[in-house]
Amino acid sequence: MNSTGTPSAKATIPNDVNARAPHMRQRQAMYSNNKLKLGLFGANCSSGRAITRVPERWTGSWEDSLALAQAAEAAGIEFMLPIGRWKGYGGETDYQGTTLETLTWAAGLLAKTKKITVFGTVHAPMFHPIIAAKEFVTCDLIGDGRFGLNIVVGWNQDEFEMFGIEQRDHDRRYDFADEWISSIKRMWGPEEQFDFSGDFVNLKDVRAKPKPFGGSRPMIMNAAVSDTGHEFAVKHCEALFSSATYGQFEQGAAHIRDVRARAQAAGREIDVYTTGVITCRPTKAEAEEYYRHSIIECADWGAVDHILSMRKLSAENTPDFQKVRERAANGMGGLPIIGSPDDVADVLKKLSDAGFTGIAMSFLNYAKELPYFQQEVLPRLERMGVREAVR
Ligand SMILES: Cc1cc2nc3c(=O)[nH]c(=O)nc-3n(C[C@H](O)[C@H](O)[C@H](O)COP(=O)(O)O)c2cc1C
Repeated sequence: MNSTGTPSAKATIPNDVNARAPHMRQRQAMYSNNKLKLGLFGANCSSGRAITRVPERWTGSWEDSLALAQAAEAAGIEFMLPIGRWKGYGGETDYQGTTLETLTWAAGLLAKTKKITVFGTVHAPMFHPIIAAKEFVTCDLIGDGRFGLNIVVGWNQDEFEMFGIEQRDHDRRYDFADEWISSIKRMWGPEEQFDFSGDFVNLKDVRAKPKPFGGSRPMIMNAAVSDTGHEFAVKHCEALFSSATYGQFEQGAAHIRDVRARAQAAGREIDVYTTGVITCRPTKAEAEEYYRHSIIECADWGAVDHILSMRKLSAENTPDFQKVRERAANGMGGLPIIGSPDDVADVLKKLSDAGFTGIAMSFLNYAKELPYFQQEVLPRLERMGVREAVR
């Protein structure tokens, strides 16, 4: 590989390599020695993952994203994972109404960091595969192989309407994504020129240079909860980004075993990541008090109810609806992790023991809360043997 990123003949890769291939292992932060990998999820969006009106809520600005990524890198955090969001959810704050586009956000962060992996979260149906493949390669070369691709098939009908794109039936979304990523992998591969002919993607005389960094390719993750989504991840991805199980660690462990077994049967290996929202204070009582204030008392209920109505959930058809609303207000389904540093470290260790490779975490105000997490929780995780000290 020369400095412009042009691959040598030796450096080119077959169309589908798995993450466990040695050259993928050289990819930096995601393959650290830490048993439990840590990332930050959603910092490209206003209010991040907390549907709250409190004034200290996250801005989602470029300046704050950059400062956060650099602080996270210094703390040994493995990755930054953005949310792919095009339209806010309304309410008093227009929750997630101000968002930075994830690939250009990733390119900027990769240029200004050295170790941390930065993902782009990409709606397959909204990005033409030729443009997408080239954007991914460009990010990957800017970051010396630290770019990761998080594929989402999307679900927000109003975003699709805004784009003037029809949303396909659930399983057809993955049929499309299958062709989309297959064509991109070919563009990353050694072929000089090829045609791609599918039910959805039809490309003629495709030429795509340069290739990804270092003769490998970006790590691919798929965010999904359905069985069809898991099948897609097993076939195409190094990692599944899966919804947390509200602390039901046994259930999480069974899910991971199932996905891993399916990957193995297909001759592949897969990592499983989850997501959680952390409220960490010196004591459990203080953490619970801040959670009550910021997430319950000051929730932006207009936005919460809008999101739930998009999922067709209401008081009429949902038992314990207020609980569902409160959970949605805190991360839209991520595992709530609320407590003292001991409590938080304990939950993270349990996730690791259940078999999760890592967790994409959110904080109400990421930059303000990360230093305390770094100072108090990371050393506990080191003592528990799931993380190493930053060297
Ligand atoms: C952990 C996780 C993260 C997700 N992140 C996004 C996102 O950033 N943007 C988005 O539009 N959808 C996101 N989704 C939704 C997925 O794109 C998908 O539409 C949804 O999970 C429904 O597909 P499924 O039935 O296969 O799970 C996410 C889903 C999960 C489980």
